[in-house]
Amino acid sequence: MREDFAVELHRRASAAMQAGRAEAQGQGSQVRVARYTDETTSKQEQQLLRRHSQPVAASSSLAAPGAWLSLAHMGTALLLVRQEDGRVQAFLNVCRHRGARVVPEGSGSQARAFVCPYHAWTYKPDGALRGVPESFGFPCLKQEESGLRKLATIERAGVVWVVLDAAQANSDPGAHLGELMDNLESLTGLRAPVGFAPRSYEVAANWKLLVDGSFEAYHFKVAHRDTIAHMFVGNMQVVDEFDLNRRLYLIKSKFAQDAPPAQGFEPRRWGNLTYFFFPNTTILVQPDHAQLSSLEPLGPNRTRVHELTLIPEAPATDKARAHWEANVALYRRTLAEDYALAESIQSGMASGANEFFTFGTFEYSASRFHEQLAQQLVDASP
Ligand code: FES
Ligand SMILES: [Fe+2]
Repeated sequence: MREDFAVELHRRASAAMQAGRAEAQGQGSQVRVARYTDETTSKQEQQLLRRHSQPVAASSSLAAPGAWLSLAHMGTALLLVRQEDGRVQAFLNVCRHRGARVVPEGSGSQARAFVCPYHAWTYKPDGALRGVPESFGFPCLKQEESGLRKLATIERAGVVWVVLDAAQANSDPGAHLGELMDNLESLTGLRAPVGFAPRSYEVAANWKLLVDGSFEAYHFKVAHRDTIAHMFVGNMQVVDEFDLNRRLYLIKSKFAQDAPPAQGFEPRRWGNLTYFFFPNTTILVQPDHAQLSSLEPLGPNRTRVHELTLIPEAPATDKARAHWEANVALYRRTLAEDYALAESIQSGMASGANEFFTFGTFEYSASRFHEQLAQQLVDASP
């Protein structure tokens, strides 16, 4: 870890503790409630997310060259294959003949060829079209141009990230992750962690409500009083922006009790680090592991949440497994508190009680996010 990062966090966390309040910006701000209910906005956001790198699987689920994984992500059928050179390549899992899904959902190893279940067009692990039965019927076919469509793919922090929009296949999938990803990977155990306890489930709320909740510890004392509140100094966060991405440092109670010295300061012992990769992925870094959550908008009122825990190595004993399972359970209990509140907010929107939601000076990260997202939608509009 870069020394200056830890020193800087220590300095600012100490200053905030001394002042008795978190760093703040502006005079407070407002976001239109219609942003959370509008169908057109929701559709535009879905398109935007497809142009940003999405975490689709743990790298550890594709252990060696030839390993493959077929899954659907944000409604797109994907085939991930670890290539001979060790890199993972994502393809659209869609046959170039007449569009059947080539590989059913599942996983395997030592892939030699993928055979379409409709007319048996056959693809190599690198996506190239290898064989067409009765090929004399396709004098028009350019075989070398008819491989599975590749998508921009990168592995960072033990996760396979894919840009789902095929039109962006030549874009740099690491560009959006930027400098913040370098910082995340500099933390012990987070360059090549192992995926644990993946799950996906739905919440009856707009995805942005779930993002809002990850940007402040103002709600901890109240909303999380039965789970994690006692571990944190409520409403005490230090925020850094990295272009559209953001890192929050949420200060723990023991920082207040023990006042750690700047010398050798280890941020993870004294607080949680939340890495937010715009627009919809959060990696919560705890002392010995991290929890990734990415939000898939299904419509204005519905979100599918994808979770993955990142641990330093696969659990070798029952004790190790129980340790990670207990961590996952607490994380899920805490998120359930957040998501129940998000559902209650969503259900109250139609009442018309609020035309705007108001964010306080110490909740500025959320309103910054809304501004940035709105600007991205404007920039993307024809
Ligand atoms: S659709 Fe795949 S071989 Fe015909
Ligand atoms: Fe929360």
